[in-house]
Amino acid sequence: MLFEKEIASQFSKLTDIPEEQLLQCIETPKNKDMADLALPVPKLNRFKKLPGNPAQLATEYAAKFVLNDLIKEVTVAGTYINFKINRTILTESILKEVLAAGDKYGCTKQGEGKTIVIEFSSPNIAKPFHAGHLRSTIIGNFLVNVYRSLGYTVQSINYLGDWGKQYGLLAIGYDRFGSEQALLEDPIKHLFDVYVKINNTAETEPEIHDQARAYFKDMEDGNENALKLWSKFRDLSIEKYKEIYGRLNVQFDEYSGESKMCDGMVSAYEKLDKLGLVEDSKGAKIIDLSTAKPDLGKVLVKKTDGSSLYITRDIAAASIRKEQYNFEKMIYVVASQQELHFRQLFKILERMQYPWSKELTHIGYGLVKGMSTRKGTVVFLEEILNESKSIMLETMKKNEQKFAEIENPDEVADIVAVSAVIIQDFSAKRNKDYDFNWERMLSFEGDTGPYLQYAHARLCSIERKTGVSLNPSANLSLLVEPIAYNLATIIQRYPEIVQIAFNNNEPNTIVTYLFELCHEISAAHSALKVKGSEQSLAEARYVLFYCAKLVLCNGLRLLGLRPLERM
Ligand code: ARG
Repeated sequence: MLFEKEIASQFSKLTDIPEEQLLQCIETPKNKDMADLALPVPKLNRFKKLPGNPAQLATEYAAKFVLNDLIKEVTVAGTYINFKINRTILTESILKEVLAAGDKYGCTKQGEGKTIVIEFSSPNIAKPFHAGHLRSTIIGNFLVNVYRSLGYTVQSINYLGDWGKQYGLLAIGYDRFGSEQALLEDPIKHLFDVYVKINNTAETEPEIHDQARAYFKDMEDGNENALKLWSKFRDLSIEKYKEIYGRLNVQFDEYSGESKMCDGMVSAYEKLDKLGLVEDSKGAKIIDLSTAKPDLGKVLVKKTDGSSLYITRDIAAASIRKEQYNFEKMIYVVASQQELHFRQLFKILERMQYPWSKELTHIGYGLVKGMSTRKGTVVFLEEILNESKSIMLETMKKNEQKFAEIENPDEVADIVAVSAVIIQDFSAKRNKDYDFNWERMLSFEGDTGPYLQYAHARLCSIERKTGVSLNPSANLSLLVEPIAYNLATIIQRYPEIVQIAFNNNEPNTIVTYLFELCHEISAAHSALKVKGSEQSLAEARYVLFYCAKLVLCNGLRLLGLRPLERM
């Protein structure tokens, strides 16, 4: 800002345009060979009619500009006035700012006093926690981290799929195929097993479906016996989920679920009735959204036997959350396949005259294709994580000497494995589908999770290896090399990158930036030696690497990774 202010201040005197408006006209060219900053003269027209031809004016203004310690050179190219700044001063001021902010670099207070509800992950009990839920989990967690870092109060909710006819089916299945021991050992796997078996059986015994419906009706009517088994399935599954979430570095403020919406649904039905929004259709209740633009069809909200549906439970959940948290905004992180569902939901809430229906957002994402274990069998996320971890351990063992130095190899391997999975996922834009690729994901070369972790650990090792430590009053004017300047300007961009990621709800923005940062760090590593340099130079360079490490660490944390100090 120092430099922009200097330019604005001089131009304000030349043009009589206020400094603040001039600041809006100054640009930072991507290619820094020509200029560090530029002022396109025609832009000034926005604020004041120019007294002549822009190219001529550019020459005139440039001739009157007084060079000083901040601005070293002024040239003209067409209607552009180009400036070269004192790069060392910029490098110094960036690094001082980063040092002062520390792990708060990139954070703001823009969300203070505002509450945001973010619902994500939301797996279905008794069904595999699959790739779709993995994406929801890590994208949702990323959004929680970003919103919190910008000062928002976030309520994170896991809205479990734990209600509906399939739980009637599961109970009947458990009666036939279940085993207490297997359930306790691995509830998610066992329940899925039972669920598959009973579904197969029901193909030849279709009456099982009627029994399941009746069972679920009992559950919804509050029959204690029916609820007992279900509640056990639910509790055991949550315990297991928590283990997986722990590995993924994810926590929830609240485990909610479709099952908790019964009371809310009673008042939702009342309101829908009162507003005349529901119609009878052969004993069932529907809401006609075919008049909406675009046509959203007819939505079933109550079955003939009086039981509820997925969307009915969502209607109740939304108003319960508004009452409970009085959110400014609520975000649902759910696969793009459910887009129609959310459009219908938001439209129904709008017709129910909830003004806050405008503050709801569905954040969707594409599919992960080909996610299976290396043997190609069906996948539970846990198997993917375990397999990645064991491959990581094998790789780490290859470097015997380094491996011996690691205190907790098992934990490190797990962290690198999880990083690999998350970074592979975030390497594509959220809305794109991508192919799950074992080799690419786990490689230490190329733009991968292990590579980012390695870059961080390497930065951490500088202090250990050189014995140089952080001296905040190091003489930073010694950082005169273009590589030092390039690295510093990338570091400077971080807060803006966080804002872009926030505006687009896009983890890929951060990942792309971190790769760029790490490429520059790696160039700086070979060009700007700390070891062997004279003490004051070594200290100045160390500040540069220290700041790079801080930014990398902040970025990795935002993505939900645990930055490693050794690996
Ligand atoms: N349990 C659902 C599924 O796995 C996702 C829930 C999404 N959230 C919601 N409020 N409908 O498909």
